[in-house]
Amino acid sequence: MKFKDKVVLITGASRGIGRSTALLFASQGAKVAVNYVSNKNAADEVVNRIIAKKGHAIAVQADVSNPDDIQRMFVETLQAFGTIDVLINNAGAHVPKSFWEINWQDWEKVLHTNVIGSFMCAREAGRIMLDRKSGVIVNVASVRGLFHCGRVGNLDYSAAKSAVISMTTTMAKELAPHVRVNAIAPGPTETDLTASWDKETLSCAINDGLMKRLMKPEEIAQGILFLSSPEASGITGHVLVVDGGYSLK
Ligand SMILES: NC(=O)c1ccc[n+]([C@@H]2O[C@H](COP(=O)([O-])OP(=O)(O)OC[C@H]3O[C@@H](n4cnc5c(N)ncnc54)[C@H](OP(=O)(O)O)[C@@H]3O)[C@@H](O)[C@H]2O)c1
Repeated sequence: MKFKDKVVLITGASRGIGRSTALLFASQGAKVAVNYVSNKNAADEVVNRIIAKKGHAIAVQADVSNPDDIQRMFVETLQAFGTIDVLINNAGAHVPKSFWEINWQDWEKVLHTNVIGSFMCAREAGRIMLDRKSGVIVNVASVRGLFHCGRVGNLDYSAAKSAVISMTTTMAKELAPHVRVNAIAPGPTETDLTASWDKETLSCAINDGLMKRLMKPEEIAQGILFLSSPEASGITGHVLVVDGGYSLK
């Protein structure tokens, strides 16, 4: 069990990639704080699954686009588990609109959730980790944040995920040498997010990948677990692309 008694806080862990990541960490012995914004039942289901296997988990409600919620999430996690060894900044927002339709509020939502929320969480975790002289942060970006991979109808999301990638390299410098900071860039992945796409978008996402399928959330979770693990002890400031070759096209 690679993460025996390590404390892992995962934002947006009630569904999708975050959920799979929470279950994977728990299977490796971690104590998991499962953050959600509104879907308490889904978060409770993840927690109950972990507890049913004799693991440790709590559900923590917090909107990562709200600084007060972020503070409370860290207080509740520390009260439950005493420290934080690993932070996974996974919660993200996506408002698919055209260049002409995106409004100020859309920009705020996407930037606050993906970028500023991740930064504020990293700073809270960074304080704890620097005190202890150890810790790992993984930011969930997207292939959309790679410089050549923006897509029409996704301008604000691509900009936000590029910022997450850029922030990752700077955070790695700021928090070195004791805290490692990396990003993962998933390609289109089978979650509620892609389930909401229309048929044409979905079929492009499948056919543009070398593997002709969506990624599974468990595959992204394995990448996140690796970046957080002792096996990745020499890796910081890196962006691990897990996309079945999608971004090569
Ligand atoms: N799926 C893809 O194809 C794909 C590809 C590349 C990157 N990503 C990135 O991977 C991450 C996870 O995506 P996903 O597809 O797994 O999403 P998802 O299935 O739609 O799940 C979203 C999760 O984030 C939580 N959440 C949403 N807004 C939040 C907020 N403001 N504060 C806290 N939690 C919030 C949701 O909580 P509730 O259950 O309470 O709503 C839920 O747990 C995101 O950063 C996304 O941009 C996804």
